[in-house]
Amino acid sequence: MTTPTRRSCGSRCTQATPAGGWAPPCSPTPQVVRAAGRHVLVASSEAPYDGPDPAVPFAQAHGYVLARSSLCRLLRLPDDPGWRAGLRDLAAGRGAAASADPDDYLVESALDLPPQAWWEGMAAVQSRLATDAPAGELDLEEEHWDAARMKRWVTTLLDMGRRVATTAAFDASGSMAALTLLAVQTTPPDLALQNTTLVLREHRGRRLGLRVKAANLLLVATELPQVRRVRTWNAEDNAPMLAVNEVLGFRREGVERDWQRRLA
Ligand SMILES: CC(C)(COP(=O)(O)OP(=O)(O)OC[C@H]1O[C@@H](n2cnc3c(N)ncnc32)[C@H](O)[C@@H]1OP(=O)(O)O)[C@@H](O)C(=O)NCCC(=O)NCCS
Repeated sequence: MTTPTRRSCGSRCTQATPAGGWAPPCSPTPQVVRAAGRHVLVASSEAPYDGPDPAVPFAQAHGYVLARSSLCRLLRLPDDPGWRAGLRDLAAGRGAAASADPDDYLVESALDLPPQAWWEGMAAVQSRLATDAPAGELDLEEEHWDAARMKRWVTTLLDMGRRVATTAAFDASGSMAALTLLAVQTTPPDLALQNTTLVLREHRGRRLGLRVKAANLLLVATELPQVRRVRTWNAEDNAPMLAVNEVLGFRREGVERDWQRRLA
C-alpha cells in the first residue's frame, strides 16, 4: 500500500499493520535487486482478518503474485498468577505439554544477551527456519547463520532499544534442540513480536515447541511486566505451530500476505 508521503517511492511497497500503523518499505527497487544479482522481489502486507486489504490491488498492479498467506495472531497477557502457574507447568513438560520424556530436555531462558555458549546452537537452529517453516510459493533459499551472525542480529535488536527474550531446549548431550526468541518493541513498549520458533527435525513430536514458548512467555511476564501483548505470524498451513499457539491462547487478529515478483 502507499501513503501520500510514500508515493515518490515508485514501486516500493509499504505495509499497513493491523493496528493501522505503517511499516517501512519492504521491497527494494528492481534496479537494486538486479545489481545484487537477484531476480525475485518479495513484499509483505497486513490487513485485519475480516476486512478488505487495499494492498491486494496495489501489489497486483505492480506485478506481484500472492505467494503465501499467514495468520497474524495476538496474545493478550493475563495479569493472573494462575496463568503464570500454567505456563510453568507447560514449560516443565506437564499438562498439554506432556510427552513421554519431559526429563530428557533442559529448558532454559535468557533475557537480552544469551549466554556465550548458546550462540552456535542458536545459529544451527536459525539456519533451518527459512526451509523448515512452510513457505507457500515463496522462492526461499537455505540461509546460513553462524554464531557471529546470530550475535550480530541480537545485538542489533538490543542496540535499537529492544529487549530480547530467548528460550532454548537442550537434549541430554547438551545440544540445542529447540529455540524461540521474541523482541519487545520500544514503540509501543507493551508489544512483543515473536521471531524464531523452531524444533530441530529429530526432536519434533515431543511438544518442545510448546515448552520453549511457554517458558519464554513466563520470562517476559516475570521480567518485563510492561509487555501486555505478543504478536505472531504463522503460515495458514503450519498446523503444528498453530496448534501450539492455540494452546497458549493466541487469537486470530489479521492476515499477512507475502507477495512475490520475478524480474524478467
Ligand atoms: C512448529 C514446531 C516448532 C512444533 O514442533 P514440536 O513442538 O515438536 O511439535 P509437536 O510435533 O510436538 O506438535 C505440536 C502440536 O502440533 C500437532 N501437529 C504436529 N504435526 C502436525 C501435523 N502435521 N498436522 C496437524 N497437527 C500437527 C501435534 O499433534 C501437537 O498438537 P497437540 O498438542 O494438540 O497434539 C516444529 O514443527 C517446527 O520447528 N517447524 C518448523 C519451523 C516453523 O514452522 N516455525 C514456525 C514459523 S512461524
